Amino acid sequence: MALALERAGVAFGGFRALHEIDLTVEPGQVVGLIGPNGAGKTTCVNVLTGFQRPTCGRVSLDGRDVSRLSAHALRRAGVARTFQAGRLFAGLDVLDNLACTGVGLGLRRAAAEQEAEELLAWMGISDLQSRPAAGLPYTDERRVAIARALMGRPSYLLLDEPAAGMSEKEAADLAALIRRIAAERGAGCLLIEHNVGLVLSVCAHVVVLDGGRVIEAGGRAAILGSKAVREAYLGAHAEAA
Ligand SMILES: Nc1ncnc2c1ncn2[C@@H]1O[C@H](COP(=O)(O)OP(=O)(O)O)[C@@H](O)[C@H]1O
Ligand SMILES: [Mg+2]
Repeated sequence: MALALERAGVAFGGFRALHEIDLTVEPGQVVGLIGPNGAGKTTCVNVLTGFQRPTCGRVSLDGRDVSRLSAHALRRAGVARTFQAGRLFAGLDVLDNLACTGVGLGLRRAAAEQEAEELLAWMGISDLQSRPAAGLPYTDERRVAIARALMGRPSYLLLDEPAAGMSEKEAADLAALIRRIAAERGAGCLLIEHNVGLVLSVCAHVVVLDGGRVIEAGGRAAILGSKAVREAYLGAHAEAA
């Protein structure tokens, strides 16, 4: 059981955004994906979720080739994501944001509302239920986007920079939530983050991209000890730290 890129590459015209990447996420596991701006992280998520067709190689879901499935079909098959910008349905309240997604996944309205209520309670944000999505503070908007992605009990959840713009405390709360999603709901998570400390605190396995290639993969010690990572990524931040 796994969601995986298998030697998957992406070209935009003559530009190779991804070079034959291997990346695997297993149920209950949180894998980190880091790398400098433009490394290809969002492109990986787009390919894994059917928003971008791989130019070569394949996407597999529990052993099945899903490279040609639409984003909607992959969502129904259990692969959910969040976006770098929240992308909530601005005209709806929070409960309806979740319920509409449930209906889109094939639930009846009442069942979708019930699952939405349960999810908001599980996340401890039931108080947001009747709030218009448009007026939410940034951090709440992020949390609602994650709740919405959890509708339909996805087997895999891909989070594209969910902690961007959060304070240390908010990021720590988010880290705890991601651990709970993996441990209590059994979902395999892929966490893209600029905050390397957050990634290393949550992920047993981290993959580092640079220029569309995997330049390092492994646990905390392997990442922190990597000269390639330091040069490509941590180096640029080390001065400021
Ligand atoms: N639709 C697209 N058309 C052309 N180039 C793109 C497109 N999407 C991404 N790119 C380019 O591919 C590279 C990787 O982008 P992206 O995956 O968004 O990086 P990251 O998320 O790591 O910052 C960047 O150079 C970006 O400009
Ligand atoms: Mg990105």
